[in-house]
Amino acid sequence: MTDPDPDARGARAIVRKPLLRALDGEAVSPPPLWLMRQAGRYLPEYRALRAEVGSFLDLCYAPDKAAEVTLQPIRRFGMDAAILFSDILVVPHALGQDVAFREGEGPVLPPLAAADDLARLSLERLHERLSPVYETVERVAGALPAETTLIGFAGAPWTVATYMVEGGSSRDFAATKAWAYDDPAGFDALIALLIEATAAYLDRQVRAGAEVVQLFDTWAGVLPPDAFRRWAIAPVQAIVARLKTDHPGVPVSGFPRGAGLMYPEYAAATGIDGIGLDTAVPPEQAAALLQPHVTVQGNLDPLKLVAGGAGMAAAVADILGALSSGPFIFNLGHGIVPQTPPEHVATLIDLVREGPR
Ligand code: CP3
Repeated sequence: MTDPDPDARGARAIVRKPLLRALDGEAVSPPPLWLMRQAGRYLPEYRALRAEVGSFLDLCYAPDKAAEVTLQPIRRFGMDAAILFSDILVVPHALGQDVAFREGEGPVLPPLAAADDLARLSLERLHERLSPVYETVERVAGALPAETTLIGFAGAPWTVATYMVEGGSSRDFAATKAWAYDDPAGFDALIALLIEATAAYLDRQVRAGAEVVQLFDTWAGVLPPDAFRRWAIAPVQAIVARLKTDHPGVPVSGFPRGAGLMYPEYAAATGIDGIGLDTAVPPEQAAALLQPHVTVQGNLDPLKLVAGGAGMAAAVADILGALSSGPFIFNLGHGIVPQTPPEHVATLIDLVREGPR
């Protein structure tokens, strides 16, 4: 083993960084905190830097700027973790599908229609195209405060596949489900390509300095149980198995948004260390059904953070009351929205660090 040995560095960190202690199963007090989409348009310093670059993807592929944007919320608020600034759609882009982000419209891709389109995608240039992201990870890893954990991430195969097949965001996922249900073996080929790309991508993030990785499955909740097992659980299980073989000390979190009653099965079957709770999960149910097995992360409604005040304080107290005596990481139930007042984020962090009253 002539490698720089990223795992040894991770293992040393487990004994000291609060977020890694929580992911190792410890009830840390006060609980560590980070927020999904903590870098972004609600921060004036992000908007200023964003205005300097052409497109959102240009920002994702500019290591100096992406590293700066990753660090902005840490400097301002001192969260316990920084999450790499990038996007889940850099993977289809690196596989050879065009991806554009249009102002006010979200992502736009030429929809993948079937096996022919799939054959045009390739793993060959994956790392070459994603190398700026690895450089961002390296830069952030070298610049973070000693107690702050660096989280890498990718989209889970199902969610990434929905953007590839629908050509962007969707209300009903009709095209993706039509492919999956009419030709499950053909759709499995797309999922298999995404498993391979995602495992390789996350491996490189870890080698570059990511200490935890999270898989975002934003649209897991639209799948009925059998399809959920095949396209949400099985692919994540395969990616986790790959990562655990190469990097046994690096925790993996999953965010199967909308999974509802499938949450416990997802937690047990995928082999993840941490699970992100969406806004609808009752914290006391998570304490009973999930927390004995995995570290739970969540789940303040991002719109409560926008509202602030007594409503936010009460919701934070409920979550802390139910979950803070076990392995727990405070977070939102989905990403921060652009209209969030930055002062409310500062207040939220104070509330969490003061503990339940
Ligand atoms: O959390 C962070 O601060 C790290 C950065 C991050 C972004 N996207 C930056 C971003 C992360 C972790 C993501 C994940 C992501 N991207 C998901 C999964 C999590 C979730 O929120 O459900 C999904 C589904 C995407 C795909 C995506 N990216 C969409 C649908 C959009 C358009 C909607 C929007 O919010 O604008 C994006 C764009 C995007 N990704 C922005 C940011 C900061 C806004 C683009 C801009 O600043 O111009």
